[in-house]
Amino acid sequence: MGKEIVLSGIRATGNLHLGNYYGALSKFVRMQDDYDCLFFIADLHALTTSPDPKQLHENVKNIICEYLAAGLDPEKATIFVQSDVPEIPELYLLLNMHVGIGELMRTASFKDKARKQLGIKSESEDIEKEIIGTDSNKRVNAGLLTYPTLMAVDILIQKAHKVPVGKDQEQHLELTRRFARRFNSFYGVDLFPEPTNFDFGGAPVKVPGLDGSGKMGKSEGNCIYLIDDEKVLRKKVMRATTDTGPTEPGQAVSAPVENLFTLLELTSTPEVVKHYRDAYADCSIRYGDLKKQLAEDILKVTLPIRERYMEIRGDEEYLGRVVKAGAEKARERASKTLKEAREIMGIRKFY
Ligand code: TYM
Repeated sequence: MGKEIVLSGIRATGNLHLGNYYGALSKFVRMQDDYDCLFFIADLHALTTSPDPKQLHENVKNIICEYLAAGLDPEKATIFVQSDVPEIPELYLLLNMHVGIGELMRTASFKDKARKQLGIKSESEDIEKEIIGTDSNKRVNAGLLTYPTLMAVDILIQKAHKVPVGKDQEQHLELTRRFARRFNSFYGVDLFPEPTNFDFGGAPVKVPGLDGSGKMGKSEGNCIYLIDDEKVLRKKVMRATTDTGPTEPGQAVSAPVENLFTLLELTSTPEVVKHYRDAYADCSIRYGDLKKQLAEDILKVTLPIRERYMEIRGDEEYLGRVVKAGAEKARERASKTLKEAREIMGIRKFY
């Protein structure tokens, strides 16, 4: 029996941070030995938030390097750039015929990003009315609305079974399953498997930010990048938001401090975590010590990645070879699936 197919990608919107690492990339690396893996750089998805063209190309390159630096091996996993697979945009057009505008408009990430594009701050505003009735210099692009279709196609065109992603992508995965089911049942076929998230048995991860917020994110200015140098990284951690400290034994931990514990749980040993949890519980904790320890443990993860990143970044020839071979492999299955989908939908040639 063949290996199960795994596919995942990361948008080319900047350097990768610890959220991308623990939510996605570290799992990619662990999965590459046991599954038929494809990992890509989602540059078409990045277009939905209008990047500067030069920057977009740089971002794609950075992520290729970060994938390799973190330990992805092109001999084991297929590494490719989304826009190198033209079958994806074609199937995206076809699948959109089975996707409702309403279900796309209800997606949390769409509402969130649409609010940003329209400059709306409050959660409660009637976003649907704003989108339809808005004046011409403020608009939400249609690519943003159909983002989940494109993501579903990335997955379905490879007939992937497992999709390692962080918690924030679960709604998109749910839509992918729904679209697959709908297509299969509409045409009475069994073309697309329904993919699931994968986390080595644990719950999907959500890596918190350093500013007390719930999620580390590229746009939030609260993150640690895998390629931050030692000085910058230490400084960021030392400046992380905390509180004035516990005043009585057994006191509940505030959200910003719990975030630091979550980061410590991801990067340190259970003994270290226990030490600081106990110190919190008996009020002897010093946040400065906790942060020093945290910075130390994060650096153990990120510095080797940074070093390798610096080594390979200049080798454009090698990077080109990796993604060219990756695109060829990714296109093999993609073109087969596209052909099947076209046939099923009745698009057949006369010649
Ligand atoms: P993106 O680029 O926003 O994030 C890439 C991956 O990093 C994870 N992630 C996090 N995980 C835990 N905690 C965080 N703070 C955190 N921040 C980011 C995300 O869950 C994701 O796994 N739509 C996708 C890209 C995509 C894709 C796909 C993924 C396009 N097509 C097909 C899988 C399969 C996205 O925007 O991820």
